[in-house]
Amino acid sequence: MSNSTLNLDEIRQQFPILNQEVNGKPLIYLDSAASAQKPLAVLEAIEHYYRNDNSNVHRGAHTLGDRATKNFEAARDTVQKFINAKSRQEIIWTKGTTEAINIIASGLSSSLEKGDEIIVSRMEHHANIVPWQMAAEKCGAIIRVLDINEQGELNVDQLDSLLNERSKVLAVTHVSNVLGTINPVKTLIQKAQKNGLITVIDGAQAVPHFQVDVQDLDCDFYVFSSHKLFGPTGLGVLYGKTAQLESLPPYQGGGEMIERVSFDHTTYNVLPYKFEAGTPAISEAVSFAAAIDYFTGLDRAAVEVHEQALLVSAHEQAKNIPGLRIIGTAKQKVPVMSFEIEGLHSSDIGTLLDQQGIGIRTGHHCAMPLMDYLGVSGTARASFAFYNTLEEVDQLFTSLAKIQRMFA
Ligand SMILES: Cc1ncc(COP(=O)(O)O)c(C=O)c1O
Repeated sequence: MSNSTLNLDEIRQQFPILNQEVNGKPLIYLDSAASAQKPLAVLEAIEHYYRNDNSNVHRGAHTLGDRATKNFEAARDTVQKFINAKSRQEIIWTKGTTEAINIIASGLSSSLEKGDEIIVSRMEHHANIVPWQMAAEKCGAIIRVLDINEQGELNVDQLDSLLNERSKVLAVTHVSNVLGTINPVKTLIQKAQKNGLITVIDGAQAVPHFQVDVQDLDCDFYVFSSHKLFGPTGLGVLYGKTAQLESLPPYQGGGEMIERVSFDHTTYNVLPYKFEAGTPAISEAVSFAAAIDYFTGLDRAAVEVHEQALLVSAHEQAKNIPGLRIIGTAKQKVPVMSFEIEGLHSSDIGTLLDQQGIGIRTGHHCAMPLMDYLGVSGTARASFAFYNTLEEVDQLFTSLAKIQRMFA
C-alpha cells in the first residue's frame, strides 16, 4: 500500500478506464505523459453538455446558446484561476500546446528581423523546436541551443554566454517529457528579461504535476494541453500577458475573431477572441474545467508526495535490473522514467510489457535532437500519474526482470 494520504481506491474508481484487462492482465497504464486518463467528472461533463446544452457560443439568440456560452466562458475563468493569470482575456483556447506555440512563433516572426536569435533548449519537444525553425525561416532569425549536463539538467549558466543584443526570444520547457527534469524556469526568465527577451514556457508536462503561477513566474507566454491534464483531447491553453497578446497578430482569420469586416478593411476582435477564429471546442472546454476542478479538489501536496514515492521506487528498483540505464537523473524530476536496457530494443520492451498489460511509451518521444545528443535512437518511458500505485511500479519491474530473463 502507498504511504501517501491519498485514497487511491477511491481515486481509481473515478477513472473507469483503469479497471480493465489488457492481454489477459490487469491494465497498468504508465503512459500519462503522452495522454492522461480522464476522471468520471470529465466524462459526465461531456455527456451533460451534449444532452442538455449543446449549441454554438457567443451567438446569443436563445437559451441553449446562452447556457453553452456561460459554461464555455466559465471554463476560461477556471483556467485563469488554475494558473493565476491576471485577467481572463489572457487565456486563449487553442487545439493544444503545439498550436499554442505555433500561434506565438508565427506571430513573433513578423516582428523578428534577420540575424535575431531565438534560444531553445536541447531537451525540447518538437513542438517547441519546429515552429521556431519555421518562424526563423520566414524572418531570417537564428536558433541557438541551451545545452544540458549528463544528469539531464539545463546548463543554466550557459544562458549568460548565449545572451547578446540579437537575442530576442527564449522558449524552454518547464518539464522535459523525456527526462522528467523540472527546469528552473523562473531563473531563466529573470535572466532573459534582464536582456529584454520574450519568454515562452512550454508547460505541457508541468501542470499535471505541480502548481504553476504565471504571475509569479512572470513569463510572457505559458502553454499547455488539456489532454495531459486529465481533460479531453483537442484543446489547449495559450496564456499570454495582455500587452504581448495585444501586439501579436492573429493566427487565423474567420468568424469570431473579427470586430468588423468589409472588403476594404477588417478590424479584429478584442482579446481573447482575436485568437479564436471559428467555432471553438466547446464541450472540450467545459469538460476541461471539470478536470481542473477534480484535480484541484485533490490534496495537491499529497499528490506530489505520492508521485515522488512512485518515482523513487522506480529509480530504486531499476538498480536491480542489470544493464538498465535511467536516462534523466536530475535532482528535480516529475514521475517520468526514461530508460534503456542493454541488448534490448526499446520497442521490444514496449511490446513485451504490453503483453503483460503494461502500457509504456517507446521511441524518440518527439525529441529527436535530444535523442541524437544522448546517442540513442529511442528510449522506453514509464510515466506515472497520481492514480498509479506502488504495486504497479513493482509489477513493472517484475515484468522487466522476466523480459530480461527471456533474452539472457
Ligand atoms: C513537453 C511537451 N511539449 C509539447 C507537447 C505537445 O503537446 P500536444 O501534442 O498536446 O500539442 C508535448 C506532448 O507530448 C510535450 O510533452
